[in-house]
Amino acid sequence: MTSTTSQLPAPRELSARFPLAEGVVQASDEDRESALRRGAFGVDFTDHMAQAIFTRGAGWHSHGVVQYGALTLTPSSSVLHYGQEVFEGLKAYRHADGSVWTFRPEQNALRHNRSARRMGLPEQPVEDFVGGIAALVQADEAWVPSTPGSSLYLRPFMFASEHFLGVRAADEVTFLVVASPVGPYFVNGFQPIDIWVTREYHRSGPGGTGAAKTAGNYASSLLPKALAREQGFEEVLFLDGATASLVEELGGMNIMAVRSDGTVVTPSLRHETILPGITRASLIQLMADQGRRVDEVDLPLTDLVDGIRSGAITEVFACGTAAVITPIGRLASDDFDVTVADGAPGPLTTGLYEVLTGIQYGTRPDPHGWLYRLT
Ligand SMILES: Cc1ncc(COP(=O)(O)O)c(C=O)c1O
Repeated sequence: MTSTTSQLPAPRELSARFPLAEGVVQASDEDRESALRRGAFGVDFTDHMAQAIFTRGAGWHSHGVVQYGALTLTPSSSVLHYGQEVFEGLKAYRHADGSVWTFRPEQNALRHNRSARRMGLPEQPVEDFVGGIAALVQADEAWVPSTPGSSLYLRPFMFASEHFLGVRAADEVTFLVVASPVGPYFVNGFQPIDIWVTREYHRSGPGGTGAAKTAGNYASSLLPKALAREQGFEEVLFLDGATASLVEELGGMNIMAVRSDGTVVTPSLRHETILPGITRASLIQLMADQGRRVDEVDLPLTDLVDGIRSGAITEVFACGTAAVITPIGRLASDDFDVTVADGAPGPLTTGLYEVLTGIQYGTRPDPHGWLYRLT
């Protein structure tokens, strides 16, 4: 079983699993360049997509890299009714010598399989998941931007494509990988965000799907997020569904807090209600490398709010693939409104951001062999 980046076979070996279709229409150089310049997340997509089909009985088949474009789905396609879908998010980074790399892709593959298992979808070999990514990035290499801080966002996903209305796991499933060029996340510098803590809505509960990267978790976060935005908050922090007292995570990022003694605290994964972020795991490893203590424990909201108020907590940040690290400047709910330190990003927040992005863009050593070369 491939469980570390260094165990992965060579990229050409993996991409050979997804033969490139002939006759794919490519964007003009001008259109591609203007999409790369725009760099708006999830707006422009590359020329190709990777695909594979699963049919119960036959297993995975029809692997290939084909024209990016509209899908043919009937109105009875199971995913449109019961939401049987899982997805992943990772990036391809261009290094100064022109080569293109990705970060811990086997971790996304393993998480994709765990999400799939929870949602009654078929698992797939790690080599197929990474092979689809490698084949797509090799076909669309020109779409990987080279301006500092930019990347090609990769979205592997799998859904119930069977034409059948009935509440059971689908017998036909489609796996696709699409890619979208993205510019630097922090266009105006490293900006702290304001967070609304919702007591009214939860993204997951005990025995639910919180640890799976599945569409419904995001759908249920959209209303609380819209309500928070109306009040001027960028993101929502969710509490546990059982007691509404423990900090869980944001709609699309994990959370960490730095104590005045230099130790760090982040919600434990043990209740299986939180998405196990690969950025989270990587930051915990980098902090362990520095000899820094990170407590993965239950984090009561009262401890977080009181700590921010008293100065016992000096930095709070969110972490995830899209922005790597997002400093949190303010946390508020119906009964409190606190500003973290002076509202500016703290030294550990900034330092971790520089180290992790340095590894991803090849400007710092990669001591754990997390990078995987795609081209
Ligand atoms: C709900 C949620 N939590 C956390 C994360 C962070 O995960 P990762 O660091 O693997 O991107 C994400 C983003 O994928 C997410 O959607």
